[in-house]
Amino acid sequence: MLVFENAVYYTTSGFRKGTVTVSDGKVFLSPSVAVQDDAIDGKVIFPGLADVHVHLREPGFFYKESIATGSESGARAGYTALLAMPNLSPVPDSLPHLKEELDIIARTARTGVYPYGALTVGEKGQELADIEGMAPYVAAFSDDGKGVQNASLMREAMLRASACGKVIAAHCEVESLLSGGYIHDGAYAAAHGHKGISSESEWRMVERDVALAEETGAAYHVCHVSTKESVDIIRRAKARGVDVTCETAPHYLVLTEEDIREEGRFKMNPPLRTEEDRAALREGLADGTVDMVATDHAPHSDEEKSRGLKDSPMGVIGLEFAFPVLYTELVKKGVVTLHRLVQAMSSAPAKRFGLPGGDICDGCRAELAVFDLDREWTVRGKDSASKGSSTPFEGRTVKGKNIMTIHNGEIIWKE
Ligand code: DOR
Repeated sequence: MLVFENAVYYTTSGFRKGTVTVSDGKVFLSPSVAVQDDAIDGKVIFPGLADVHVHLREPGFFYKESIATGSESGARAGYTALLAMPNLSPVPDSLPHLKEELDIIARTARTGVYPYGALTVGEKGQELADIEGMAPYVAAFSDDGKGVQNASLMREAMLRASACGKVIAAHCEVESLLSGGYIHDGAYAAAHGHKGISSESEWRMVERDVALAEETGAAYHVCHVSTKESVDIIRRAKARGVDVTCETAPHYLVLTEEDIREEGRFKMNPPLRTEEDRAALREGLADGTVDMVATDHAPHSDEEKSRGLKDSPMGVIGLEFAFPVLYTELVKKGVVTLHRLVQAMSSAPAKRFGLPGGDICDGCRAELAVFDLDREWTVRGKDSASKGSSTPFEGRTVKGKNIMTIHNGEIIWKE
């Protein structure tokens, strides 16, 4: 049994102060009093964080990351639920392929790890994967890393996934609009002779899919939104009652193309955009249009990421820096409240994807993270438990550090 006396803790209806007891895998609460958001500092208990967009690279790319190292990184950062993307080898597009991943999860995962099933065979966008066969074992379906180019295939995928009660999480990217780009098609690319990725390549597919979701009634989620146009399309779709949610990542909320240097750690897909895009994402996060924050934790080896802006693969690590960077840059600077940030990193993803956790309530399953909001530290990619170390936040001083993570009632990480 674990007892936190006089603890400040998050609930979906506000912060409270009282005694939090963890026993038999559950949380028990004593009578408590409400606490105002702006009065919170020091130690505080959150529901375990949930990240609906991570690349754990196993099976297939063990040299970049493993389910053990990726989930260890998550546990250190206060995550209790990670949704693992399917750009793996084999791609989880059938039950036998999915089983390889499920076996590794059962043997090595430190946190809850919930796989995505692929939408199409081999993520090739030609024919649909075994959606019905995999549905009982996956959190949702996605072809992340690639957009599904064929609209009628996406429409059929939506019908079949929604018949199984599953969300489709879409990587939105129109390939015919890419023309070899690898950073945002903006001022930095023009000034330094790089090929750009247009905003249109993202929002055109968001627009197409939102219309398909409206027509089919499917539960549809947009991965890593990076453009102001996408935010606008999603805001208007929500107002019409379309069942659409979306995520963005910390780097799109904090950085812009002006932060780019000629280093691989500034390269991810979608790319860092403009000040206007960042402002729209911040506004969307504050008003709920952007439902949740996911990291798109996408580790590559140090050698791969050392090849510079043009030649390194897309993707950066993110789990251990997400909350501290956003707490420092958004909460401390008054862009969003602490409650909204925790909601976006725990309650909202748990609710949308049916994950355990997301609230601290009497009798709830104990999925918890204890943070020390006063702790100041410096981001160093090499100190992460991930096999990857490439982060655009390298060297930043941040506030807020997870000191204990409880998954399913057990302490899985403690400082
Ligand atoms: O930056 C990215 N990395 N974006 C993606 O869509 C895929 C991911 C990866 O798998 O490395």
